[in-house]
This record gives sequence, C-alpha cells and structure tokens, in this order.
Amino acid sequence: MSERPAFQPSTLVIHSNRVYESQSNSILFPIHQTATYIHESVGVTKGYGYSRGANPTVNALEQSIAAIEGSISALCFRSGMAAISTLCLALLKAGDHVILSEVIYGGTTRLFEQVLTHFDVAYTFIDTADLAAVERGIQPNTRMIFAETPANPTLRLSDIAELAKIAHAHENVLLAVDNTFLTPLLQNCLNLGADISMLSTTKYIDGHNATIGGSLASHDEALMERMRFVRKILGTIQAPFDAWLTIQGIKTLPARLAMHCAHAGQVAEWLERHPRVAKVYYPGLDSFPQRELAKKQQSAFGGMLSFELNATTEESLRFMKALKLCTCAESLGSVETLITNPATASHCDLPKELRDRLGISDRLIRLSVGLEAPQDLIADFEHAFETIFGLEDGEAK
Ligand SMILES: Cc1ncc(COP(=O)(O)O)c(C=O)c1O
Repeated sequence: MSERPAFQPSTLVIHSNRVYESQSNSILFPIHQTATYIHESVGVTKGYGYSRGANPTVNALEQSIAAIEGSISALCFRSGMAAISTLCLALLKAGDHVILSEVIYGGTTRLFEQVLTHFDVAYTFIDTADLAAVERGIQPNTRMIFAETPANPTLRLSDIAELAKIAHAHENVLLAVDNTFLTPLLQNCLNLGADISMLSTTKYIDGHNATIGGSLASHDEALMERMRFVRKILGTIQAPFDAWLTIQGIKTLPARLAMHCAHAGQVAEWLERHPRVAKVYYPGLDSFPQRELAKKQQSAFGGMLSFELNATTEESLRFMKALKLCTCAESLGSVETLITNPATASHCDLPKELRDRLGISDRLIRLSVGLEAPQDLIADFEHAFETIFGLEDGEAK
C-alpha cells in the first residue's frame, strides 16, 4: 500500500491535533481547565496525573508545534523566558560555559548576567556570525552555543548549519537557536542541524497579542525527556487557556507569515528610498550585508525590520509618537504593527557603549510589520515625517 504523502504546513497547523470530543462533537479542541485527573483505580490514569506535568490542551498545542518543527514532540511553557530558563536549568550545571550571540534579546542577557552567574554558569558574548570567533570561543567546559538568528533588534544573522558543525565537532556541545523572529516555517533550525529550537510563542505563533508563551523542540528524545522532567519540577508549563488561544493562532500562521513578509518587504523598500531614513536593516534588501545567508537558510525574509532616521534621537522618538497606525508597544509578530525603541525598551540594560558597538543606537527604531494594508502603513509614515520634519519630507523621493 502506498504511503500517504506528508501534509503541507498550512494543513498541518489545522489538522495536526484534530481529535473529536465525543460528548458534543465540538470542532475545536476543548480547554481542559483542570488541576488534576481522576484515577480510575489507584495508580491507573489515562496518562495525565497533574497539570503541572502535562495537560491535554497544552499537549494539543505541542502537537501543532512539533508538526511545524518536524520533531516527534515539543514542550510548551508559560513564556519564552520560561522556555529558555527551563532549557538552561535542565542542561547546564555549575562550572559550565555557554556562548551567546552578542546581539540577543535583552531578557536572555539578563537571565545569564543576573541569574545564572549566581549558579556558577559562565558565558561569553560572541558575534555568532563570525564562525572563527565562535571556534576560538569554545572552552573545555563549553556545553552550549545559544544563538539568536535573526537577532533582536539588528537582524544580524548566524549560519545555523556552520554553527552546528562547530558545536558537534566538540564533545558535549549543543546548539540551541532562538527562532522567534522567523518560526520553523521560514527557517527550520532542527533540519539545519541545531539540537534545540526555541520559540517565544507570544510572537508569531499566537500572532494576536493574546498570550505569553514559549516552546522547545528537539529531535533528541532524551533531551526532550530531561526538559519535560525539569519543566514539571519548576512548574513552567503553559496554562491550558493560553495553550487553547495559541492553538487558534497557529492555525493561520502560514497565511499570516506570507502577509507579514510581503508587507515588511514593501515597507522596507519604501523606507530605504526616503531621504529622512539613514539606514534600514531588513534581510530582503540588496543593501543587507548578509542577504545571501538569509537566502541560504531562510525560505523568506520575515516581518521584522529596524531603521534609523537622519535625525537626532529626540526627533526619532517624536517621530515614533506621531505614528497613528503603528502602535508603540513591546513585543512583535502580531497582526498589529508594533514599533519600539530597543535602547529604551528590550535592550535598556546594556551599557550605551556596548549598544553602540552592536548597532543598537539610541535612535534605532524596530518595526514589527503587521497585517494592515502596506499603503496605509506607508501613509502613516508619511504623515509622521510631515508632522516632525515638515511637508516636503512627507513623501519618499
Ligand atoms: C527573540 C526573543 N526571544 C525570547 C523572547 C522572550 O519571550 P517571552 O516574552 O515570551 O518570554 C523575546 C521577547 O520579546 C524575544 O523577542
């Protein structure tokens, strides 16, 4: 008998966890809002004992995430940071060393700098785009390379396949990748050789700013088992209602990502042509220095971009405030276009000299391009240029 062909991602996100609830035939997977589960007889359960360990609704979301990761299983957490914390507490011990991408989400920096150092876990920030520097940075006690690509907020890319080769040429070194900016649908880290793929599901996976969540996936079932065990001890599992909302979000992920990418491309090109714009960081632009790497390991360029105006920091911040459709708020990957100033938000804890060296200037603006019509977003920018710099600057040359 011939094997059924594998489903495409847009089918998988809708059907990977489809089970019918026999009491009512509800088409949506139910919310199992319960702390505990009845034992049919002492010690006999249907596989669920207590919701800190596992929950059917969370498990349904895990099946959807595993389907797009291409892994056997996935684990969901209360936040992206809960996922990273659980990963570190599960796989590291006192005396270990970790290489971190030097451009990375501020919360990850805080976890290593202000928490894990208390447990004698050492770390080095390295430009993980520089493979020779990564190789030089490996120490006898290095246990993990934790890379973020594209990196928040400069979109700096690291070559996942090459990083995996470096990690695996050394004994006991794992490669974990924070793939929040692209999701496995645009960049499959595990297929590229990473040992662990991490997502803040708060972002594109949910897509509607309704939940905070995170996930981990790996092809290595022993690693998954260890992380599942530590999640149960720490109590970092996602809540059933949040998992249920995220299940609704992930069903439209392929459709949303296609729109995010198309809109971001249009906005990036428009901004780059504007005389008041000094620099645009977007992997889809010819001017992006790592465009070839993006084409090699990504299937599209994503919905995130950053830019700097030909203006002072004060003018740049007033420009942000003058925008009406682009909402000034932390987070990314939602249907709403969100705009932030990383130097005063996600990366405010980094010293200014370091931020400047990494390209995170005080006037850098990060844009998560949403699903609004791109012409409306562009009109919003035109209006803000006019408001802050006068009429002649409203229109791109
Ligand atoms: C790239 C990246 N990784 C991890 C996180 C942390 O995720 P969460 O906010 O869900 O804890 C964020 C949050 O902004 C992020 O942007």
